Amino acid sequence: MNSFTLQNGTLHAENVSLNNIANDYGTPCYVYSKAALVNAYTQFCAGLKHTDHLVCFAVKSNPNLAILNLFASLGAGFDIVSGGELARVLAAGGSADKIVFSGVGKTADEMQAALTANIFCFNVESASELVRLNDVAASMGKKAPVSLRVNPNVDAKTHPYISTGLKNNKFGVAFEEAFALYQQASAMPNIAVHGIDCHIGSQITEVTPFIDALDRVLGLVDELEAAGVAIAHIDVGGGIGICYADETPPAFHTYSEAILAKIGKRKVKLVFEPGRALVGNAGILLTKVEYIKETESKNFAIVDAAMNDLMRPALYDAYHEILAVEPTNNNNTKTYEIVGPVCESGDFLGHDRNLSLKQGDLLAIMSAGAYGMSMASNYNTRPRAAEVMVNDNQTRLIRARENIADLFAGEKILD
Ligand code: LLP
Repeated sequence: MNSFTLQNGTLHAENVSLNNIANDYGTPCYVYSKAALVNAYTQFCAGLKHTDHLVCFAVKSNPNLAILNLFASLGAGFDIVSGGELARVLAAGGSADKIVFSGVGKTADEMQAALTANIFCFNVESASELVRLNDVAASMGKKAPVSLRVNPNVDAKTHPYISTGLKNNKFGVAFEEAFALYQQASAMPNIAVHGIDCHIGSQITEVTPFIDALDRVLGLVDELEAAGVAIAHIDVGGGIGICYADETPPAFHTYSEAILAKIGKRKVKLVFEPGRALVGNAGILLTKVEYIKETESKNFAIVDAAMNDLMRPALYDAYHEILAVEPTNNNNTKTYEIVGPVCESGDFLGHDRNLSLKQGDLLAIMSAGAYGMSMASNYNTRPRAAEVMVNDNQTRLIRARENIADLFAGEKILD
């Protein structure tokens, strides 16, 4: 389903023209389609109807309270990686008993907050984290529910910065060490072993790496159960890719059918941690052309969004489609570098885009719903953009544009 379509020559989000959104809320502005969000979540769950499952939306991909609240209302759980994300989920009305807590660097305070909230499970990533969690739980007179995040050493065939399941990266417990660590965990008085977890990377566009990882995980589950360590849930992580340009990620049902086939008749709850696949194509970044600058070698369209608003192109050389909000059919198409005002040569949003542009035109940077606003910064003292949710022909502001005074309100001039 595409929620961003041309209607009468103007790009719309559902049934609202992006021109109107720019007029009402200004630019740069993130725009989300509620229907696309609901549809993605519903489709993701469709193939899991007959399976005991929990879909934990990866908060880091888009932590806006309105988005978390929408997913919570649809029954989602959440994958968090910080105390900040825990607070957000709770503020958004998410249920603590559907939260999994991932991440390699959990502090004692974060553990305490999560134990106080009674989360569903900690995904523990190292032996030292396990010891700390046991200590924190002991100090509170609690037992911490735990999965070990194992590193199955499979190649997710994705960008090296977002591949996490290989031996040489910082995530998870080495596969060879996991069995022994499970035995230690089972003997710890304030740890309750509940499950097993793995997450191999992000923007994965094939099913095979997921199944290879699951194969290894299931082998370990068998060994553990034979040794008397019961595993009640398997968390298969997130990572399904989306289409930014011409990628062909597996359909949700293809992915879930393959996983369910591998699980077979096992009596186990399945946990999923999708982020990008639920929000990526449900959001765009709306921006205005401030200047056209033509040089001998390149034409630049300098827009009012920048790397601080959408970091993915600068950081990963990621491709996002860029569409004119009012495409013209004249013959003035030129090849543009779409760049922001930030003082870095790496501040680009797209290279070599064929567009017909003039000052004041609006552009939509597509597929920006995941890891867009969540990775935005205030570099160059730029206020972060507004966020707007569209529902049919209605718009609602879900995050106000930051104001400049707030950006340095916490700073002090020394006397
Ligand atoms: N679970 C864990 C433990 C994760 O580390 C991640 C993402 C997810 C789930 C969700 O993965 P997803 O379904 O969204 O692929 N900033 C990068 C992506 C970083 C992903 C980090 N971990 C980007 O913009 O491409």
